[in-house]
Amino acid sequence: MKFILAVAGAALLAASSIALGQPIVVKFSHVVAEATPKGQGALKFKEAAERLLPGKVQVQVFPSSQLFGDAKEMEAVLLGDVQFIAPSLSKFDRYTKKLQLFDLPFLFDDIEAVDRFQHSAQGKALLDAMTSKGLKGLGYWHNGMKQLSSDKDQLKRPADVKGLKFRIQASDVLEAQFRALGANPQKMAFSEVYQALQTGVVDGQENTWSNIYSQKFYEVQKTIAQTNHGVIDYMVITNVGWWKKLPPDVRQGLEKAMDEATQHANKLALELNERDRKRILEAGKAKVQELAKEDVADWRKAMAPVWQKFEADIGKDLIQAAVKANK
Ligand code: LMR
Repeated sequence: MKFILAVAGAALLAASSIALGQPIVVKFSHVVAEATPKGQGALKFKEAAERLLPGKVQVQVFPSSQLFGDAKEMEAVLLGDVQFIAPSLSKFDRYTKKLQLFDLPFLFDDIEAVDRFQHSAQGKALLDAMTSKGLKGLGYWHNGMKQLSSDKDQLKRPADVKGLKFRIQASDVLEAQFRALGANPQKMAFSEVYQALQTGVVDGQENTWSNIYSQKFYEVQKTIAQTNHGVIDYMVITNVGWWKKLPPDVRQGLEKAMDEATQHANKLALELNERDRKRILEAGKAKVQELAKEDVADWRKAMAPVWQKFEADIGKDLIQAAVKANK
């Protein structure tokens, strides 16, 4: 009831803003820094939306969990307190089990394979996996492949993480992944990770180069292993009710702006991650551990049981379609 009233209220507000000749205020909240693929995508969306819909919309972007952090952002969309967010695909557990697919370890060889799957019929269909829960997916944005880091000197083989505590995103698949390694996973909001690493609440974490650099994780970790064992990508979502009730020209304009932003973020993703990997190397604070093929094979083997555990929830067909996207 509260949800329905809030959505109706937000839609009414949009309609009355138009009637009064005032721009509709559109809030876009996210948890990362501006100098990351998602940060840049959100800024591009603002620029494009205000250019395509002059005087009709005003887009306000709130980076770095300033407005809402991981714990509250989805609820905030459902309540109409914010219109766009772009959570990592690992954070939708509560709304759909299908997106757990993206967390299966070593599912995709690289970000190009992720892109191919997202553009496939099965990938596109997942954008609508949460409409019955009030959330509409408008597009996928890339970040990149995940690397593993810890506060220990040695991080080469699965045995090196046994007994260590790792921060994970709110995902049961990631929890199972670290348990398969004999490590102790701890779900934690992104905004709390730096301090948890610094104070030793956790020993390590997994993330992309752009997040490891922009959050300064490399300053409080000893080793970063180039595992590329998973992906961090995003789904940009909005509130179904609010979206449907927008004047058609505004909705179309926002859709176009979203396409521009998606292209921009996805074009930048590889480049920004590569740039930040170099910056981390140059800083010389954390050792970047390259892995031999045999080492990667060991990690893959140690994490393999996770696939079977989640196969029924995700669906065998979906997993096969994703595997096919590797060339
Ligand atoms: C994390 O929570 O580690 C990241 O997924 C944050 C983000 O949005 O990139």
